[in-house]
Amino acid sequence: MAQVFKRYHNTVARATIGGGLLALIALILGGSSITRSPWWTRAGEPPDQPVPFSHKHHYEELGIDCRYCHWSVTKSAQAGIPPAEVCMTCHSQIWTNSPLLQPIRDSYQKDQPLVWNKVNDLPEFVYFDHSIHVNKGIGCNECHVGIEKMQLTAKSQPFAMWWCLNCHRNPEKYIRPKGEVFNMYYQVPRTEAEMRALLEKHGIQWEGRLPRNQEELGALLVKQYNIHKEQLSDCSVCHR
Ligand code: HEC
Ligand code: HEC
Ligand code: HEC
Ligand code: HEC
Ligand code: HEC
Repeated sequence: MAQVFKRYHNTVARATIGGGLLALIALILGGSSITRSPWWTRAGEPPDQPVPFSHKHHYEELGIDCRYCHWSVTKSAQAGIPPAEVCMTCHSQIWTNSPLLQPIRDSYQKDQPLVWNKVNDLPEFVYFDHSIHVNKGIGCNECHVGIEKMQLTAKSQPFAMWWCLNCHRNPEKYIRPKGEVFNMYYQVPRTEAEMRALLEKHGIQWEGRLPRNQEELGALLVKQYNIHKEQLSDCSVCHR
């Protein structure tokens, strides 16, 4: 057969394939950095709310525990949003004339639930459960980063699949003693004395050498809390 494709054709073909491949790689890399960026996932942008509720004010400055308002978080899939009655335990006494609180007073007096816009929202086909995380030593602020500083509540994590899986594959990197789940200021101990104090405070037993860092503390807790990380990445865990 005659040589239809001359040598230079090959070079051209190779160049275009090479170029096309590069473009594809660039697209994949670029695409994933776009979908992971806060712009795409709308992290950091608080939605409109009927009342400008501040976690910074109520948690950080007044020291109200998360469970005072989100009490179902340890027992059910949902953390829940508190009804106006909860706000009125204080706001029937303080700031009773604040115009900002009018919707709360209306909701309470007319017995009509206040409608808050969702900040975090997973797609329908993803199964999530708060209680299982909270009861196994995953702190609120692993997933709601910086909530204690928020004047208005915004999403701080994309909640993309790779992000959930990142922890499901390596829970020892993030897990903390259960008693620290509601503490937004929790820090991994940096010295031997701090580590010992933390374990003793929560009655956590260890064998042999004291853990030295998060990896070692995490490995100890994963074992003690009976976490089976081999199965945690199965599709059926989150897609049932
Ligand atoms: C005094 C009551 C109160 C306390 C205490 C409180 N919250 Fe909230 N929280 C609310 C209200 C009301 C909303 C709904 C309005 C909003 O999104 O700001 C909310 C919303 C949220 C949301 C977003 C909900 C969504 O739509 O996705 C998260 C996450 C959250 N709270 C976490 C926490 C954590 C973590 C703590 C403890 C550090 C805490 N809250 C303490 C009242 C409270
Ligand atoms: C444990 C008491 C307590 C509870 C419960 C509470 N608050 Fe407050 N709230 C306060 C105090 C104290 C202040 C403000 C004092 C200050 O500014 O120094 C305040 C201030 C506010 C303000 C600002 C008012 C203004 O005019 O600046 C808003 C809005 C507010 N709270 C909303 C809520 C909502 C919504 C809830 C229920 C989800 C709630 N609070 C529950 C104690 C409480
Ligand atoms: C492992 C990650 C993770 C942890 C830990 C976590 N949350 Fe959430 N939270 C989420 C996700 C994901 C959503 C959105 C759920 C949805 O759309 O179904 C959410 C939603 C919420 C909401 C909105 C209402 C609801 O029930 O969906 C509140 C309030 C909330 N979280 C509070 C908390 C508090 C308080 C803690 C700690 C006690 C906490 N969360 C711990 C991931 C987490
Ligand atoms: C920071 C760590 C962490 C993150 C982030 C996280 N998880 Fe988990 N998840 C865990 C741990 C730990 C368990 C408990 C495993 C056990 O009990 O063996 C768990 C358990 C679960 C379970 C229950 C599994 C069962 O056996 O019933 C579901 C469902 C789940 N996670 C969904 C999610 C989804 C969806 C996301 C992302 C939106 C997410 N998780 C993010 C750590 C995490
Ligand atoms: C730890 C929880 C978790 C596990 C395990 C998990 N997924 Fe997901 N998956 C998610 C979340 C969260 C989303 C939603 C992501 C979003 O909205 O960006 C998702 C989205 C998807 C989507 C839709 C993709 C899209 O872009 O809309 C597909 C398809 C999917 N998952 C398949 C799988 C398969 C196949 C497996 C098993 C290999 C798996 N998932 C395991 C949490 C999980």
